[in-house]
Amino acid sequence: MTKSGRLSGRTALITGATGGIGAATARLFAAEGAGVVICDLSVADCQDLADDIGGSVLAAAMNVTSEQDWEETFARAINLFGRIDVVMNCAGLFDGSTIEETTLETFDRLCDVNLKGVFLGCKFAIQHMKHRDAELAAASIINVSSTAGFVGTPRSGIYTMTKGGVRLFSKSVAIEVAELGYNIRCNSLHPGGTETGMFDETLRHRGITPEAFRDMAKTRNPLGRLAQPIEIAHGALFLASDESSFMTGSELALDGGYAAR
Ligand SMILES: NC(=O)c1ccc[n+]([C@@H]2O[C@H](COP(=O)([O-])OP(=O)(O)OC[C@H]3O[C@@H](n4cnc5c(N)ncnc54)[C@H](O)[C@@H]3O)[C@@H](O)[C@H]2O)c1
Repeated sequence: MTKSGRLSGRTALITGATGGIGAATARLFAAEGAGVVICDLSVADCQDLADDIGGSVLAAAMNVTSEQDWEETFARAINLFGRIDVVMNCAGLFDGSTIEETTLETFDRLCDVNLKGVFLGCKFAIQHMKHRDAELAAASIINVSSTAGFVGTPRSGIYTMTKGGVRLFSKSVAIEVAELGYNIRCNSLHPGGTETGMFDETLRHRGITPEAFRDMAKTRNPLGRLAQPIEIAHGALFLASDESSFMTGSELALDGGYAAR
């Protein structure tokens, strides 16, 4: 029996789904009645999360930079669920180097995951979703950017470059699919500092303690704290559901007011 909820009858594919924000979103979407395709690099981590959530969940190891992985994952997901209603491109990498320190290898790694991964996610989503029944509410593509997609940030210039790219690419996708008459919406989601594994990475790069980082966050956004992953997941739920039915090509900032300064 289908669970009733804000996403009942829907299927959502989430990349980076075993990370902090991705896992919180996968759990929330499932609790709201969605079938969820949990995609991340480690098959064991995907399976652990799928077992923990239970119900209509598919664990799919995939690298977002691989076209073949996208093809195989979409085929498996459609075989199981019949249709994908939501694609959330959440996989991402951070690097905290100065521009002088940044190597070409780091540049390529970040562009591969943060840009190529989002491009492929949108491409495969559109290829599938363009055949969507006109009677159904629009499919939703959610591209995870960052506050770094709005404003310049020191010691993470390449990350900022990629997240700015995600923001404008999402607008291009939204306009293009609307003009083509496809029943698809696309928006970008912009978390501020959130307590996840990516946060640990930030600390490692900057050589500071978690306590010092939290203190810094207090002065960086008006709410004076970091976000919990579930607070970002709630924004993703809004974008995935019909509650955002008139929203496309837009940005949802969940940043404690950071970009308002
Ligand atoms: N945590 C924050 O403060 C913050 C702030 C703004 C934006 N974001 C964005 O939110 C998204 C999720 O980040 P998070 O904070 O949950 O970080 P996280 O490190 O906990 O999760 C990221 C996930 O992406 C996966 N991933 C990395 N490379 C991949 C690849 N090639 N293929 C498939 N999966 C891959 C990782 O395995 C990991 O599970 C990212 O796009 C990140 O840039 C995070």
